[in-house]
Amino acid sequence: MPELGFSSCPSTEPRGLGKSVQVRLASKFYGDFAALKDVTLTVNPGEFLTLLGPSGSGKTTMMMAIAGFTDLSSGTILIDETRIDHLPPNRRNIGVVFQHLALFPHMSVADNVAFPLRMRGVPEDEVRVRVRRVLELVELPAFGERLPSQLSGGQQQRVAFARAVVFDPPVLLLDEPLGALDRKLRESMQAELKRLQRQLGITTIMVTHDQEEALTISDRIAVMSNGQLEQIGSPEELYQYPATPFVADFVGDTNRIMGTVRTIAGEFCTILTTGAIECTGQTRHGHDASVAALVVRPEHVLVGQEVADVANRFDGVIENVTYAGDSIKYVIRISREDTLVARTRNVRHQPRLRVGDATIVGWRPDDAVVFVPMNSISECRN
Ligand SMILES: Nc1ncnc2c1ncn2[C@@H]1O[C@H](COP(=O)(O)OP(=O)(O)OP(=O)(O)O)[C@@H](O)[C@H]1O
Ligand SMILES: [Mg+2]
Repeated sequence: MPELGFSSCPSTEPRGLGKSVQVRLASKFYGDFAALKDVTLTVNPGEFLTLLGPSGSGKTTMMMAIAGFTDLSSGTILIDETRIDHLPPNRRNIGVVFQHLALFPHMSVADNVAFPLRMRGVPEDEVRVRVRRVLELVELPAFGERLPSQLSGGQQQRVAFARAVVFDPPVLLLDEPLGALDRKLRESMQAELKRLQRQLGITTIMVTHDQEEALTISDRIAVMSNGQLEQIGSPEELYQYPATPFVADFVGDTNRIMGTVRTIAGEFCTILTTGAIECTGQTRHGHDASVAALVVRPEHVLVGQEVADVANRFDGVIENVTYAGDSIKYVIRISREDTLVARTRNVRHQPRLRVGDATIVGWRPDDAVVFVPMNSISECRN
């Protein structure tokens, strides 16, 4: 076994354990059904990558394939340029925390954490040192003798994390590791997880349903849909520059307005909605559908005096008002067919609009994106 960091390196500097993970043209078929279709993805050493996508989109299949619990139908997986897809799970040297892979209930916390080391034949005196170090890292140094049932949910998650990293794996896979926790605990565990991952420098791939969690914790996010990668990028890239309407919908809240392309002038495209509204946003070509889709974030929808002289301005009527603490959400009808959601900052003492109020609503064209169908580009260019 190589020299391992937990026995020798108490420093808080990033430990740089991480290695790159490359998935190349990975497919997984169950009969005719493709759970993964030609997925190609590189995760950089030490990077925190999140797989985000709806239920059934192939996230767990991808993790199981990397961990070695599922064989690919085709494609390859490499860690640091070395192919691992033909190796059994225990020879891939990957740490895993899967929601369904619980702690061993009859073993103490210390024995749970020691398990991967004992499996690898690490001498007992070194096992003791390493278990102590990793339990300090997850801030549970006094919990070694307890059984998992004597811990809170968050403490159990930290023990599971300790067990996954105790053998210094270069790669860590986390499948919905925080799924069972309540919101407050989940948020503090996110920060904890990120701190531990940074400290160790382990390349980490995490699955989540929760887009807010993905935006907060990740260096990059890979959005999956129907077994394929829709887009991969930093949280900001995905939020500001979604490549497809699906990504715009899935990452953050958004308004989506459908229509037909009227004009494309320079980088802007104007569409005519089914409710006969003309509105403009930045052109994004190559949309794989027959109608155009304009997307604009609720926080970019301006209401009342905020609208000033922006190019897209419409008369609207407030249809619904939701109080969300730090913000107010308005649903505003702008035509018989079209409504917009606007999220405005909740400023105390400022008059609030009420249901039935008439107002003006709009957005800056460069705050909206129009996904232009492939077939309507040449017809509509000015
Ligand atoms: N053993 C199997 N046999 C047949 N189909 C399977 C099998 N395992 C997974 N699938 C199918 O593959 C698809 C992807 O499943 P996967 O578990 O990867 O989804 P997921 O993105 O992790 O979803 P969730 O968010 O619900 O966990 C699903 O449609 C699922 O039904
Ligand atoms: Mg899953």
